[in-house]
Amino acid sequence: MKEISLHILDILQNSAHAGATLIELYITEDTENDVFEFTVKDNGCGMDEEFLKNVVSPFTTKRTTRKVGLGIPLLKHAAELTGGGISIDSKVGAGTSLTARFSYSHIDRQPLGNISDTLFTVITSYENIDFLYVHRYDGREFRLDTREIKQILGGVSFSQTEVSAWLLEYIRENEAELYKKQEVKNEKFS
Ligand SMILES: Nc1ncnc2c1ncn2[C@@H]1O[C@H](COP(=O)(O)OP(=O)(O)OP(=O)(O)O)[C@@H](O)[C@H]1O
Ligand SMILES: [Mg+2]
Repeated sequence: MKEISLHILDILQNSAHAGATLIELYITEDTENDVFEFTVKDNGCGMDEEFLKNVVSPFTTKRTTRKVGLGIPLLKHAAELTGGGISIDSKVGAGTSLTARFSYSHIDRQPLGNISDTLFTVITSYENIDFLYVHRYDGREFRLDTREIKQILGGVSFSQTEVSAWLLEYIRENEAELYKKQEVKNEKFS
């Protein structure tokens, strides 16, 4: 995978397939501390300890009886390439929380990519799931809670053209705002 947003998409889909009704996604870019981190937390079915071990390192097991996917191992590999890694907390019947940490400035760190489209895609594909999204970039933050948006929409579907167009634009604008250069006031010359 070339972009972190595609890893994120895979992890969000895992949560959706696990029957989550609420998925939280936190992306934190902290350039000062050289950290790029994301966490996906869900209230889905969870995994037991034994399964979790296999999920994280499918290449070290000789197990052939169970299909083990590549989503998590690929993410683990990408994070470790930058000197980071992943950690997963999971409880059967309660949910799962996965955090991936990358060194922000590492040459092998993939770019975030198109997170606006990723977020838009999952929100509109899984209308019955609520999403809390928090993207922090240094001191700034963009927060989106579909529970609040759904309340305002009062039953109008995200698949309605006007609503989906608005949502995509809203996400894109706020994402762009995060990275805008701060205007530096130069008092000396004013
Ligand atoms: N959030 C989660 N809650 C419960 N089970 C999970 C969660 N994430 C992953 N799993 C379990 O771990 C397995 C492996 O996940 P992984 O993303 O590595 O592969 P996959 O989703 O099966 O296949 P791929 O991602 O390659 O399409 C999943 O099939 C699922 O059984
Ligand atoms: Mg997967």
